[in-house]
Amino acid sequence: MSTNSPEPVLIFDTTLRDGEQSPGCSMNLTEKLEMARGLRDLGVDIIEAGFPIASVGDFEAVRAIAREITGPIICGLARCNNADIDRAAEALKDAPRRRIHVFLATSAIHREFKLKMTREEIIKRAVDSVQRARQFTDDVEFSPEDAARTELDFLTEVCIAAAEAGAKTLNIPDTVGYAVPSHYAAIIRHLKANIPHSDKLIFSVHCHNDLGLAVANSLAAVQEGARQIECTINGIGERAGNTALEEIVMALRTRYDFYQLPTRINTKMLYPLSRKLSSITGMQVQRNKAIVGQNAFAHEAGIHQDGMLKNRSTYEIMRPEDVGIPSTELVLGKHSGRNALKHRVEELGYKLDDQQFQQLFESFKALADRKKNVYDADIEALIDNQFHSGGEIWTLLNFTCSASFGVPPTAAVTLKHRDGHTVCEPAIGDGPVDAVLKSIQKGTGVELKVTDYRVRSVTGGLDAQAEATLEVEYENKKLNGRGLNTNVIEASALAFLQVINRIAQRQIRPRLKPTDHVPTEVVPTI
Ligand code: KIV
Ligand code: ZN
Repeated sequence: MSTNSPEPVLIFDTTLRDGEQSPGCSMNLTEKLEMARGLRDLGVDIIEAGFPIASVGDFEAVRAIAREITGPIICGLARCNNADIDRAAEALKDAPRRRIHVFLATSAIHREFKLKMTREEIIKRAVDSVQRARQFTDDVEFSPEDAARTELDFLTEVCIAAAEAGAKTLNIPDTVGYAVPSHYAAIIRHLKANIPHSDKLIFSVHCHNDLGLAVANSLAAVQEGARQIECTINGIGERAGNTALEEIVMALRTRYDFYQLPTRINTKMLYPLSRKLSSITGMQVQRNKAIVGQNAFAHEAGIHQDGMLKNRSTYEIMRPEDVGIPSTELVLGKHSGRNALKHRVEELGYKLDDQQFQQLFESFKALADRKKNVYDADIEALIDNQFHSGGEIWTLLNFTCSASFGVPPTAAVTLKHRDGHTVCEPAIGDGPVDAVLKSIQKGTGVELKVTDYRVRSVTGGLDAQAEATLEVEYENKKLNGRGLNTNVIEASALAFLQVINRIAQRQIRPRLKPTDHVPTEVVPTI
């Protein structure tokens, strides 16, 4: 980049922290590492890898990412107390570039009802915490939680104190998604104008999407000089989610004429990483989701199609290939060889080692025997099925089920446990899928309440692969499962088994959320 080019806006990804803590998005260590590798390849500047004190699983994931991932800064979240900060420092200590992100609520509502602290106490706690974090790293970020609802004079005071204590990044969260663009922009403008040496600080934005304004608010703040954007893949996050990384990055890129601000993101990795996250969490993006939704580049209206054929720019402001959606769908079939498959897999953004590719090739051949045309979505489905599950405890061996009129549906599913023993418990259900799920529950001994169940076909035609997704409730948590197969019932059984395996692996541990109110007696104080 020439010396005259503007400095890139920093992309701070919090998929593995703010995103992961939202219902149905929990990931295990293997999945988090896989996502972290994807984020590194995408080119994000900072990966917020987790909240180390929240659970042992979070700590281990942050530590593993800190040890493996080089390139981006690895960040860990901590509340403003010694125990949190020390735990974050411990998890991050092997990262060549590490950041501790400390946060403390500042709004009157949080001060009065959650923290029961005065303004003076808040300032003191923030200063002490930033100073403590600085003992472990020079790179400390401070967030006044609920900043958008904090009195502007007090917000400014806290930020000045945090900056003087050594915070180099001041993040201004709109924790509850209350801000609107001109309001949020005015906050950033005010802080930049009133904090001494603000040109030496990075102002960061962290927006939630409760009013559907997270991306718009972030862009408005960038116009006022914010130079770090906190965001998540597919916009996952608390409630309505966080600023969607793919949307903000493509807005800056597509409207470079207006913002004149680059990012370091390799936009061709956006779509593959969005798909990877969906496959890991089982949480699909809506069809009309900007940038990565199935319809984002589909032109249906005749008048649009006509325009597109004459010149793509009539109705297309971005090209699908710019975000990594393969431009031409190359259909494979049973006569396609290894090279064709390998080429396609690479175009779809996957990196497989030789052994994984061999495994894929075998399942591709098996699928091509059952299905005339194998589309991109089928290949993605095969890869997701094979490589994104990780260390199953239960595997499906076979099942029978009956569905006839006038007789209750029955099923008997045979499952194999990792220790070698098998189970098969017959069950009766309301329908064949229900019977299969009941049989699985009886066999594994895990009782679950299914709160959502959907089936869709990943490609067209009657021989298409079915994708079953379901959401279950387990110990007050929502978990998602996803299964793919040409047989709808098998896809459903696989989706259910994915959830059962997560539970069996005890990867879903109770954890604190950063916003949880913690009774004072368990909050280690400084
Ligand atoms: O939304 C929020 O306030 C947060 C903070 C922890 C930065 O996620
Ligand atoms: Zn947040």
